[in-house]
Amino acid sequence: MVTVVGLGFVGLTTALGFAEYGHKVYGIEANLERFGTILGGKLPFLEPGLDEALLRHLGNNFIPTTDWDEAIKNSEYVYYCVGTPYGEDGQADLSFLYGAIEQTLAAIRDDKFRVLVTKSTIPPSTTERRLIPFLQDHGVKVPDQMGIANNPEFLREGHCWDDFIHADRIVLGVSDQRSEQMLKELYQKSNVPAYCVSLNTGEFIKYLSNTSLACLISYANEMSLAADAIGGIDIAAAFRILHMDKRWQSGSIRSYFYPGCGYGGYCLPKDTNAFYAVTKSAGFDGKILKQVIETNDAMPEKTAERIIRVAGHDKNVCIGVLGLSFNPGSDDTRDAPSAKIIKELNRKGYNNIVAYDPVAMEEFQKFYQLQYICKKNCQQVLDDAEILVIATAWPEFKNLRNETSKPIVDCRYML
Ligand SMILES: NC(=O)c1ccc[n+]([C@@H]2O[C@H](COP(=O)([O-])OP(=O)(O)OC[C@H]3O[C@@H](n4cnc5c(N)ncnc54)[C@H](O)[C@@H]3O)[C@@H](O)[C@H]2O)c1
Repeated sequence: MVTVVGLGFVGLTTALGFAEYGHKVYGIEANLERFGTILGGKLPFLEPGLDEALLRHLGNNFIPTTDWDEAIKNSEYVYYCVGTPYGEDGQADLSFLYGAIEQTLAAIRDDKFRVLVTKSTIPPSTTERRLIPFLQDHGVKVPDQMGIANNPEFLREGHCWDDFIHADRIVLGVSDQRSEQMLKELYQKSNVPAYCVSLNTGEFIKYLSNTSLACLISYANEMSLAADAIGGIDIAAAFRILHMDKRWQSGSIRSYFYPGCGYGGYCLPKDTNAFYAVTKSAGFDGKILKQVIETNDAMPEKTAERIIRVAGHDKNVCIGVLGLSFNPGSDDTRDAPSAKIIKELNRKGYNNIVAYDPVAMEEFQKFYQLQYICKKNCQQVLDDAEILVIATAWPEFKNLRNETSKPIVDCRYML
């Protein structure tokens, strides 16, 4: 049996994924509102496919619970899928992880061998230098009494279920044979190749992945700024024609080498910063990574300047922002570029802003205190605004040029 701690995008997907493989899974969630929603058979966020998996497994293979003692007593695997948000100086904040491990240890009443697995994104060397000493300080003998491993997750929000079930690879960062064997058994039914690597390598692979994607995005954005400065360049056409080269054609990686208004969401911003912080404390100053972060940090201001070039200097002009979620297909607004752009416009005195998103309006209003008014649909924004800004590439904005003659700032180069 498996206990999954933290039922967010990653944890709920992981719990239901293991349930789909036929395992019995307990799900523990500290946020009682989120817990109640899941217990009632509903998703707390938008994720196609995950809703059906929840209905299939709830009360069968998947048991949401608040009873740590029962869950831990019965489980051989404890998976941590809690948040690892921005901490001090850009470092990953591990307090949720430590808290969840402490709750696990408090619930252990026997000497059964269990493996504790971190699926949350944690910087390379965290397991070796911080988690193992943390367990040892609590009197746990690793790995004789308990195993510890990491199993980073690569899913994309909006595609969580599909990316988990049809993963390209499973990465298992392990240092003892018993845990390795147990983890291989856990994934036996998945038909996805599993690669066992050292603890540090497992953690590193996740950051290698996210920083590489961030690097592609920042370079594409830098090129778009350079093209803008030169003038007379059709940026969208240039990138689309670049992608016709055979070498770019084998997959969705193209979507990362495409300009926009900066990467956002829960992972890329915090993970690039956390990795930069950990490398600096290891005595290495990665110049490219530093520039990737700086380029991204500059994008909201550059984008606001681009919008103001079209809006003009009358600060009462009504600006319509289309798209608030960080990516199409998701209602997640954490670190969304749209929020940074609105904030930047507000800072420059442009407060007459109307906004619309197909799914993320409620989330956005919960998270951000900014000067703007939400509209019920796209048409209301088209009616009220004098200029339009596409901040998220939702398919419903694709035909905007046929729906309005008002000026459009296409921050996603989608038209
Ligand atoms: N969201 C993604 O696309 C994605 C992809 C890959 C990896 N990750 C990583 O996975 C981790 C989780 O990300 P997420 O997006 O699922 O986060 P999330 O914020 O949606 O979910 C984390 C959940 O953990 C719960 N939690 C925290 N402490 C707890 C405790 N002690 N007991 C029970 N529940 C607890 C929180 O209430 C929250 O619901 C992060 O490290 C993230 O970087 C995220």
